[in-house]
Amino acid sequence: MIILILSGIIPSVIAGAIVVRSYTNRAVSLRTSNVQNQCEILSDTLESEDYVHHPDNNLINNELTFLSNIYNGRILIVDSNYNVVRDTYDLDAGKTSVSREVVSCMEGNGASSLYDADNLFIEIIMPIQRADGNIDGVLVASVSTNEINQTVSLMEKQALLIILLISIVVLVVGYFMAGILMKPFRRVTKAIEDITDGYAENAISVPDYTETQQITDAFNTMLSRVRNVDNSRNDFVSNVSHELKTPMTSMKILADSLVGQENIPVEMYQEFMADIVHEIDRENRIIGDLLDMVRMDRKAGGLSLAMVDVGGVLEQIIRRLTPIADQKGISLMLELNTKIEANIDELKLETAFQNLIENGIKYNIEGGWVRVDLRKDKNSFLVSISDSGPGIPEDQHDHIFERFYRVDKSHSSAIEGTGLGLYICQQAVLQHRGSISIYSRVGEGTTFAVRIPLNCEEE
Ligand SMILES: Nc1ncnc2c1ncn2[C@@H]1O[C@H](COP(=O)(O)OP(=O)(O)OP(=O)(O)O)[C@@H](O)[C@H]1O
Ligand SMILES: [Mg+2]
Repeated sequence: MIILILSGIIPSVIAGAIVVRSYTNRAVSLRTSNVQNQCEILSDTLESEDYVHHPDNNLINNELTFLSNIYNGRILIVDSNYNVVRDTYDLDAGKTSVSREVVSCMEGNGASSLYDADNLFIEIIMPIQRADGNIDGVLVASVSTNEINQTVSLMEKQALLIILLISIVVLVVGYFMAGILMKPFRRVTKAIEDITDGYAENAISVPDYTETQQITDAFNTMLSRVRNVDNSRNDFVSNVSHELKTPMTSMKILADSLVGQENIPVEMYQEFMADIVHEIDRENRIIGDLLDMVRMDRKAGGLSLAMVDVGGVLEQIIRRLTPIADQKGISLMLELNTKIEANIDELKLETAFQNLIENGIKYNIEGGWVRVDLRKDKNSFLVSISDSGPGIPEDQHDHIFERFYRVDKSHSSAIEGTGLGLYICQQAVLQHRGSISIYSRVGEGTTFAVRIPLNCEEE
């Protein structure tokens, strides 16, 4: 509000000052040239009557008094010896006048004028010059500028009044305008407040201004993201509880049956214990996934970079996964073209590639294949993982990287998983300033292509 008032008042004050100043200048210069004209005529008369040498000329004296009266000023006539021969105020007659201007004029430098703004008068100094150029004397006329100053102070008062009026108008109009303009924004606040109580409601809309519409649109987008996160968190809790419970239940059944029986053959013990170990592994894997996710989420936990042989890392993963692939009759192929060394966080990228290759094995057909291919271009290396699996519908491509997202939920109990693998994978790739893309169609298998800079620090 203060800004509003100042923005109205400051220009008015400046404009007022400019108007008053230019009026003063103009009035003074008009008055000066007016008096100067009169003085020129007077100077000619003084010369033709040779007044300087005959200052008792009554006709001229009367005219001087008359002029002095109508201009509310004083006229001095000074002869070539700097003696004042006539003063309409009768103060300096007979005295000597040697002001700088008078001397300069007497020396033949022509007429001059000056404005004394402090004492409010204009002074005109004019030579009384003969036709042959000789100077008989000097005419000094001082004219009061009182009237001009009265007009100026009147103008100043009026300007002040106008500024005061403008301020009041700006204040009142500003107050009401602000109220009207802010109304839609208050409605936005109200709508947001209402929704925070329970955000299951519909999207909000305040279409009064483009701005309010943009705010509500942005809010709706954010709201739907929050809802998604909330939904996936709920899904996650139930998924994870289910995932964690399943191995527990199996272990309990296995252990119970051993406890409840007597004289159990050693083979049976061994078989059940192997099953229990398997379940413990499964439990471990799920917990490992969760820990990976938390670790990737923590931004502060940056990368611990080192020069790593990327092909070696992939070979290790393949060796580790071969037994699982063999169980499903899936053949794993690794194609390393050249030796590639890169400055990467080995642990994080190993987790990422293992997730992708594991997916290729998990979501595949009996007797299928998974091919891992490593290549390099100028600044980065490229790992692509292709499989002969069922593929992923195109409308799901954007979602599979979301936390806890699994493509076919009804199917998810058949194939173990928490939907965290790709999320963890993407985080690791992004932390390396790399990119991950998916090429897949239903029934045609899937390819994930990961590109990582050879030295992500230099990017
Ligand atoms: N190669 C693939 N072929 C077909 N579908 C895939 C493939 N990779 C991933 N998907 C689909 O994407 C979903 C998400 O994969 P992601 O790796 O994130 O989770 P997950 O494998 O279900 O569980 P996790 O990896 O955490 O054990 C999977 O549930 C699966 O439906
Ligand atoms: Mg996975």
